[in-house]
Amino acid sequence: MSDLIRFDSENKVFHLSNNNISYLLSIDDGGLVSHLYFGKKVKRYHNHLSYPRIDRGFSGNVLDNLDRGLSKDTLPQEYSGSDSGDYRQTALIIKHGDGSRSNAFVFKDYHIQDGKPGLSGLPASFVQDKAEAQTLVITLEDKVSQVELDLLYSIFRDCDLVARSVQVRNQGSQSIMLEKVVSLQLDFVAKDFETITLPGAHANERHMERQSVGYGLQRFASRRGTSSHQMNPFLALVDKKTDEFVGDAYGFSLVYSGNHAFELEKDQLAQLRLLVGINHENFEWELGAGDAFQTPEVLMVYSNQGLNGMSQEFHKVIGQHLVRSQFKYQERPILVNNWEATYFDFTEEKLRPIVDEAKQLGIEMFVLDDGWFGHRNNDQSSLGDWFINHEKFPQGVKGFADYVHQQGLKFGLWFEPEMISMDSDLFRNHPDYLMQVPGRQPSPSRSQFVLDMGRQEVRDNIFNQVKDILDQGYIDYIKWDMNRHLSDIYSLDLPAHRQGETSHRYVLGVYDLLERITSAYPQILFEGCSGGGGRFDAGWAYYMPQSWASDNTDAISRLTIQYGTSLVYPISMMTSHVSAVPNHQTGRITPLDTRAHVAMSGVLGYELDLTSMSDEEKEAVREEVEAYKAIRPLVQYGKFYRLKSPSDGNATAWQFVSEDKTETLLFTAQTLAGAQPLLTITKMVGLNPDADYEHVALFKEGEDQGVGYFTSIYASRPLEVGAVLSGDELMNMGIYDPVVRRDFVTHLYYFKMKK
Ligand code: GLA
Repeated sequence: MSDLIRFDSENKVFHLSNNNISYLLSIDDGGLVSHLYFGKKVKRYHNHLSYPRIDRGFSGNVLDNLDRGLSKDTLPQEYSGSDSGDYRQTALIIKHGDGSRSNAFVFKDYHIQDGKPGLSGLPASFVQDKAEAQTLVITLEDKVSQVELDLLYSIFRDCDLVARSVQVRNQGSQSIMLEKVVSLQLDFVAKDFETITLPGAHANERHMERQSVGYGLQRFASRRGTSSHQMNPFLALVDKKTDEFVGDAYGFSLVYSGNHAFELEKDQLAQLRLLVGINHENFEWELGAGDAFQTPEVLMVYSNQGLNGMSQEFHKVIGQHLVRSQFKYQERPILVNNWEATYFDFTEEKLRPIVDEAKQLGIEMFVLDDGWFGHRNNDQSSLGDWFINHEKFPQGVKGFADYVHQQGLKFGLWFEPEMISMDSDLFRNHPDYLMQVPGRQPSPSRSQFVLDMGRQEVRDNIFNQVKDILDQGYIDYIKWDMNRHLSDIYSLDLPAHRQGETSHRYVLGVYDLLERITSAYPQILFEGCSGGGGRFDAGWAYYMPQSWASDNTDAISRLTIQYGTSLVYPISMMTSHVSAVPNHQTGRITPLDTRAHVAMSGVLGYELDLTSMSDEEKEAVREEVEAYKAIRPLVQYGKFYRLKSPSDGNATAWQFVSEDKTETLLFTAQTLAGAQPLLTITKMVGLNPDADYEHVALFKEGEDQGVGYFTSIYASRPLEVGAVLSGDELMNMGIYDPVVRRDFVTHLYYFKMKK
């Protein structure tokens, strides 16, 4: 029996804990389940923290309890119902058969089980061995409607994580309507938090934003049908003093790829309620008698070692306990993708020289992007027609893939399975597959429309088309894209009063299709994409171990995007490509070194016409590829630390450290040059203070042509190769950042521990 969850039956307290964290809740008077504590581990709890009974005016009391100090309106609770005296935002709204929305959930039962159950139809964290986690299931009931709730809490042994979700069961004899059902409620008392979120836009994803929490309601949400570029399904609550290394950080990542909401309410007593789950705007779910509804899961991480501590836990949780692919611990191939090289304008003949060049440069995979199917020569047609365009590929894509394989490269292919163009055979044959409200014109976006993935028939059609191609066995990798958001939400499979189910059914349908495809073809490496990083979420990671971080390939924009992405998602999940200049999204011209250093800080790829590079540039690419192969395990699976934020000034820095601390890679960036710049120092972290580290060359020195009167672009040079410094010097004293007479300069410093 595991020791992770204990129940003190005398005081009715549940204590979930591992080596570092504790989560406590208790069964309070009247059967209310109250929240006691979440944070740094306490070994034993002496029952001193039950919520003080204070009579608060206009906060009603619990029936049958004459204690005016006990109110649902003030008590920190594990899960709140609606319309029964708790005036704060509620976790759950049920519309009963009689039209009322009242409920009163009280404790019914509990059980503790070893391991961590999966969630039917939904992605969820898992353990290999039952001893790695334990799960507490608390059952609440509303006696009148006979609706039951299972609150699930799984605590992991090796991660500072509690995974939570909720199941609603209708044990009554009438249908009910779920109008809101969140995955997690967490009530905090006497905490003055700030929030950190990851808002953004297409080509500008996941910027870290930090704000204070005021009275009233604050909401961070997506109603776009997907997790979105605009608001990543993540929120952190941190103390005002928390920084990257010190202080409390609570992180909440929703394992879901659809509409989501993170709601915060600071109440009349400055207590804070957090609710996380499916966005309940336009959501309704009919739950028939005897039926159950399972919410998605929330990963709840706590660290007292600041944001880096929190991020490292998330990287571990997602990398080890959420990603299932057989590639999860494998070094990911360095690829070249033809999108920015050719867009739609290609034929096999035009692509072959890129393949040849890629081989020369040591690149390991060629990815054929959008435009190989139907008669797609621009973005206005053919989505849904997943058959080969023989004009571009006279011997089929297979013929081309054979050529790629003969060159010793792997072959990858782009799909956008959830979409339909009006100009497609699929639409001509099945106009009803396109999600639309009968009698209304559906709204286009990028000239395309969304398939109703909630319908089995639609999914089967797409599955069979994709299967026909994959069964030919020539595909090593798939990029799964989604280039618009949902609108005109309506499903022909559902009656009028159940249309509120459509968006969630869409997500469940996509998960079902992903499950079918990824389990049928486990040997294929899948990469998620949605116009770049529009579906970069923990749910997606369950099916695909990596995702395209952004359509913005500009190295300077990527500093911010990758910095923000690293807050939650492991580096092995984040793909990053070197592209041409002027950059196609920003027009900015950055040095090739800079583009390489930034892309080498993620899963490296190239996205440009390799054949149009100069010999000198090709030589540089060859070196980058070789260098990346040497540091790839360190980058993709090492410990990642953010050191200097791109939003704090002119300098950015981050660092990778191997598990055994024998290797480390430091990345620094100077965004703009100045005539008399202030000197800056970068201090490293996570090393062995007693060991010596040697600065080892990763690349040959490039030519330094100087500028104007100066013979060198360096006003002061970076730490020289061969320098040996001890871990404590690197960490406590740090090294000077070079001063360079050029904008957009980056450095990679690679250190190896001396034997
Ligand atoms: C999206 C992707 C790009 C590319 C195009 C193709 O924008 O993010 O990388 O695949 O679609 O249409």
